[in-house]
Amino acid sequence: MCVNERPEGGKGSCAGRGSQAVLFALQSGLSEHPELWASVSVTATGCLGPCTEGPTLVVYPEGVWYAGVRAEDVAEIVREHMVGGRPVVRLVYQWPES
Ligand code: FES
Repeated sequence: MCVNERPEGGKGSCAGRGSQAVLFALQSGLSEHPELWASVSVTATGCLGPCTEGPTLVVYPEGVWYAGVRAEDVAEIVREHMVGGRPVVRLVYQWPES
């Protein structure tokens, strides 16, 4: 989970868009699923790249990227992806073609 913070202006940052609340929601959401405690870790990190689309997080080992995540989206990500193994398509970030 990107928690990078930049000064106001420019491209901004995930922290400026509420990533700390998303991080807390992830930690809280996973605390309700002890069956995941041995297999899922939530790690705060610096910039992941798609700053203007943040808050951004990536789920490994699948390598599924999420962007524009709000705290209220997290329960769905935990339930559908981390428990059910199905990424939440509406929040999946698609990298631009290079
Ligand atoms: S600041 Fe979060 S992806 Fe760059």
